[in-house]
Amino acid sequence: MSTSTTIVILGGTGDLAQRKLIPALYTLDVLGRLPASVSVVGFARAKLDDASYREHMWKGARELSGQPVERKAWDRFAKRLSYVRADLADPASFEALRARLKAIEDGAERADRIFYLAVSPSLFTPAIRGLGGAGLASEDTGWRRVVVEKPFGEDEASAAKLDDEVHAVFRESQVYRIDHYLGKETVQNLLVFRFANTIFEPVWNRNYVDNVQITVSETVTVGDRAGYYDGVGVIRDMVQNHLLQLLCLIAMEPPSSPDPEALRSKRVEVLEAVRRWSSEEYAKNAVAGQYDGYLEEKGVAQGSRTPTYAAMRLFIDNWRWQGVPFYLRSGKAMAGKRSEIAIHFKAPPLTLFAQPEGHVHAPNVLAMCVGPDEGFHLRFSSKVPDEGMLIEPEHMEFHYRTSYAGREIPEAYQRLLEDALTGDASLFIRGDQIKHAWSIVDPLLKRLADPASPKPEAYAAGSWGPAAADALLARDGFAWDSLCGHDD
Ligand code: BG6
Repeated sequence: MSTSTTIVILGGTGDLAQRKLIPALYTLDVLGRLPASVSVVGFARAKLDDASYREHMWKGARELSGQPVERKAWDRFAKRLSYVRADLADPASFEALRARLKAIEDGAERADRIFYLAVSPSLFTPAIRGLGGAGLASEDTGWRRVVVEKPFGEDEASAAKLDDEVHAVFRESQVYRIDHYLGKETVQNLLVFRFANTIFEPVWNRNYVDNVQITVSETVTVGDRAGYYDGVGVIRDMVQNHLLQLLCLIAMEPPSSPDPEALRSKRVEVLEAVRRWSSEEYAKNAVAGQYDGYLEEKGVAQGSRTPTYAAMRLFIDNWRWQGVPFYLRSGKAMAGKRSEIAIHFKAPPLTLFAQPEGHVHAPNVLAMCVGPDEGFHLRFSSKVPDEGMLIEPEHMEFHYRTSYAGREIPEAYQRLLEDALTGDASLFIRGDQIKHAWSIVDPLLKRLADPASPKPEAYAAGSWGPAAADALLARDGFAWDSLCGHDD
């Protein structure tokens, strides 16, 4: 049966399309993993035609994607690209899209479509309404899927409203809410690490684990993204999505089947069990920061209280994790770029080997380095030769860059686009998970927005964040400890 599959990128000329989506599709094409039947339609405001759209995308892929792009292979790939000019508020644009789809799908016995919402969140609703209004979501000739970028809503109430809009046009099973962290190779490897090994499961609980630290730090400042970022801040940009997704993968119960829904349900159960802090309780369980110089960035509102850093302490009230603090932190303009989950194990119950005064015997840590230097580290204690019983920490390491030297680690979007094409929703976010994620952070957002509450604490650009974030752990007798970048 001849099939046509079209990916319509709403916001098809934007940064995401240029940097990530089109380059990911190009790579899939080069790898021979993009079926010949796949076409891509850019749908955006810019005054372009097919030829100038292809050139615009070529430029983006070459200059912005950070991956090698070859002209010959590109020209082959670019034949799949076309462009329709759009005003998302104008039904005529969606009629034009319909006509273009009809032309592309002409002669195919089956015509499947993905609508990728790579537009600013304020345009999600008009985009969905436009698609529904023009009958583009009707599954008369094949399946229809909609991929929605983050942030999905700006709090629980607005996410519920957006869900209603989406569900007026698409069934939940057609909705692919994306969080690119789930497409990262090492994030998927967390699942393999936990569920394809037997030795870790017995210690993966409150009996052995002292605390868990999740760090997603970036060295970049907001740069030219202040227009977006200043209205969003680190909680909506990183914590509600990327950090809570990492928390789910590290804390979830093993699913009992490979069914995508089983995996998704287990992730949701973690968020259900996260203890909800009130705005007042967040005063003791969260720290917000803003890097020095943020207020001078172009596009930042005068006196902005937007946090560029946040740290928080969460608890998961279930049998596995009761009483184990999970510390999360994320920030811009920090001392190092790393995404890392560190499981800190309890100290041995008895000290057999007396250590010199002031010498700290560091307990075991298992660190999962999600990026940029992907791998795992296990810190363990070892005897220093010929110095009595002096103990020093050593590291057992696995890194992709050494174990798979010369092999490219695929971009997250590559995997996620492939999954959306094949209809595997395991690595996408279900509506109920979004709702729970917002309900965890909403009281903190409320607190931060309250002019009566303290402003975010200043921290020096290039540091590890405000001192209060260290105090958050020190109060419990812990300290932030980053293993993945231990040699930087
Ligand atoms: C995005 C955020 O979702 O993730 C950005 O909007 C952030 O602000 C980016 O820089 C970080 O992603 P990665 O893959 O570089 O860790």
